[in-house]
Order: sequence, then structure tokens, then C-alpha cells
Amino acid sequence: MAGRGFTVKKDWDNPVEHAMPAEARVPAEVRLGAVTVRPATVLAPMAGVTDTVFRRFIRHASVFTREQATGNREQEATAELVDVAISNAQSGCGLIMTEFTSADGLSRMRETKRRRYLTFYDDEHPIGAQLFGSNPETLAEAARIVEETGFDTVDLNLGCPAKRVVGCNGGSGLLRDLPKIGEIFRAIRKAVTIPFTVKFRMGWNESQIVCVELARMAEAEGLNGLALHARTREQGYSGQAQWNWIAAVKEAVRLPVVGNGDVRTPEDAAAMVAETGCDAVMIGRAAPANPWIFRQIAQYTATGSYEKPTTEDRYRMIRAYFEMMMAEAEATKDLPRDARLGDPVGKMKQFATWFTHGVPGGAKLRAVIYHARNGADVLSEVERFFVARMEAGESAELASEEAAELFSDAALICD
Ligand SMILES: Cc1cc2nc3c(=O)[nH]c(=O)nc-3n(C[C@H](O)[C@H](O)[C@H](O)COP(=O)(O)O)c2cc1C
Repeated sequence: MAGRGFTVKKDWDNPVEHAMPAEARVPAEVRLGAVTVRPATVLAPMAGVTDTVFRRFIRHASVFTREQATGNREQEATAELVDVAISNAQSGCGLIMTEFTSADGLSRMRETKRRRYLTFYDDEHPIGAQLFGSNPETLAEAARIVEETGFDTVDLNLGCPAKRVVGCNGGSGLLRDLPKIGEIFRAIRKAVTIPFTVKFRMGWNESQIVCVELARMAEAEGLNGLALHARTREQGYSGQAQWNWIAAVKEAVRLPVVGNGDVRTPEDAAAMVAETGCDAVMIGRAAPANPWIFRQIAQYTATGSYEKPTTEDRYRMIRAYFEMMMAEAEATKDLPRDARLGDPVGKMKQFATWFTHGVPGGAKLRAVIYHARNGADVLSEVERFFVARMEAGESAELASEEAAELFSDAALICD
């Protein structure tokens, strides 16, 4: 989508002076083995959300800014559709990851279906694939497939709280069996040469916190990095992420530590770095509501302030996402059913819902979209909504209480 024929303004590349204290700056880069993640920000894996369209949308989110608005619809349309790679440093998001994929499924799956789960485009590098499962050999085999497919990193999920995953001892279920985790680490490590990382929660519950021990094991077994979502399995998505455990893990190992949990704003990202010393920041639920967040973090890190999207920015953004989604559906429509993008209209509705939380009048739009029957209908309702707002000169900034509401919605989706 983005890249050819426009330049991305990068205010943060040559800051005149640093407004941010050094200890609160999100690092410019982090190395996971041979892979450099620059800047040190990661889009969290999110099932049902981080498919190839969403990942590329986030990677290129820096395109959709006021500076780039030319006022010329034809040029704008071109800028949104081109697909020459732009560097990830320009996008402000250093690493993207697939949603979690079942290792059992992957090793049994037909080639066509694998394609749906493991498809990515050249402009997604660096990109990691995340796996879940509990059988060391199956996970090792799936990791090999991931490497052969061309992913830059492979990640093991030890955090998913969903019952059907935990029920098969996958995700956070494994946090109760550290020796088994050790076996899995060794099997995957032996199977691949690409960087191998793990994403985990603090432990099963407050009385079984294992994250520090687990981090030490990861280091001893030759993993290249780790990401901690600072909650227990029992917490689900409730309460506050306990960043002090990210600090404890950072203290215990020399491996790069990615902090995760409750980063909703650039200020939060700076606070997480300052409080924990983490090497990178991972962002999940805030990204669909505010796809500018990575760009804002980069700008904030460099200058101490950041731009907020206007109503027009929001409109351009949502329209671009819808166009990408429809283009991907069109491009895959002749493939076997299980290789196609899953339910593009459903995804458009879901995205519109997340994206318009906190936008005045958003509830009305969501009600209308709910009944839309195809992508074109969704697009035209969104268009009508935003054009009316722009004509009225209204601001579409997220109200903080509604952003919080969005967070609880996202949690419902996951569990
Ligand atoms: C809808 C949804 C789907 C998720 N799917 C995954 C997943 O596939 N793999 C994973 O490791 N975590 C998954 N998570 C957890 C996120 O990666 C992240 O750890 C969590 O949302 C906390 O970060 P946040 O506060 O920035 O959202 C998911 C979260 C949500 C909301």
C-alpha cells in the first residue's frame, strides 16, 4: 500500500535536542539474535486481529498524516495503494508478529491452509511467527516450517489464557510445568537457526509466579529474547499489568526483554521503559484504536511531544484499511476456501467498531454498520459518517473513558 511516490516526514530522525530524559526513551533499536528491531517497538500478536492486512496497515501507518495529505484525491489514492517497501524505521513499529498458530494444526494442515496462516508480504519484514502447543517435537516441526516460510523470528506462546488452549496444556497452561517448557525450548532451539523468542505471563496465579525462573531458563537454553505480559493467567485481562515483574525479569537476565501490558499512550511507553529498564515495548489493544501509536511513540521519544490525529486523518486511515482489506479479499478470492482471508466484511465491521470508540457519534455508526451486508456498504457508511464530521469541523480525538471501554471490549474478544 504505502511507499512509492511520497516521502514520509520523520520529525524524530534529527531532533534538535532531546526533550526526553534518557531513562524514559524507548530505545532506538534492540537486537534479537541476528535480527535488528528498529525502533524497539513491537506490535503484539492478537488472534483475529493481526492478519497480514492489519500488520501491513500498522507498519505503514506513518503514511496517513496531515503532512501527506495532498488535497488531491487521485494522488492520495495512489499513495494508499502502492506497495513498495518503506523501512520499518519510518513506520515507527520495529517488529510485527502473526497471531498465534497451532503447532499441531500447522504440521497437519494442508499447504493451502498453511498459506492463510503464514502468508506475509515482503514489506512486513522483520516479522515473527508465533506458535502454541505443548508437544516438543510438534512445536519443533512447526518452527522448522516457520523458518522455511521465511519468517525472521519464531516465538513460543506461553501466555494465552483461553480455556480451549490451556485445556490442551498450551499457552499459559504450560506455566505450571517448567520442565516441559525446558524440553520445548531445547527442541525448538535445535530445530531452527532464526532467532527464537518466548512470550509469557508472570505465572498461573499470584501464588505461582514463575517469570523470573522462566526467563533464566530461556537464557540458558539459547533463546534470543523474551516478552512478558505482566499479568497472571488467572488475572486474564483484569486489573493492572504489574510492571515491577518486567523490572525483575530484566534484572535477572541479559537477554533482551520486551515489556507488555497496558501501554495505551506514548507517555505509558516512556513510563514503562523508565520503571522497568525494558529493551523494547510491545503494544496490543491500543493499536486498533490508535494505529498512530507507534509513530507517536517515536516522535514523543525524540521530541517530548507528539501529534494527534484529526478527523480527516481518522477517515483516511479507516478508508485505507478497508481498501486494503477488499484488495486482499479480491486477490485471494480464487484460492481454495481455507487459503482465503477469513471473512473480510466481518473484519471491517470489527475494525470500524474498535476504531470509532470514543469518536463522538461513533455508537450510531456502529449500529448502522452492524447491519451492512457487504464491504462496499460498510465503506459508504463510514464515508458518510466522517464526511459529515469533517463538514461540521468536529474533532475526533478519543475520549479517555471510551478508550478504557475499548480495552475491556478487547479483553472479551480474546477470552
Ligand atoms: C483480541 C486479542 C487477541 C490476542 N491474541 C494473542 C495471541 O494470539 N498471542 C499472544 O501471545 N497474545 C495474544 N493476545 C495478548 C496480547 O498480545 C497482549 O499480550 C495483551 O493484549 C496485553 O497487551 P496490551 O495491554 O498492550 O493489549 C491477544 C490479546 C487480544 C486483546
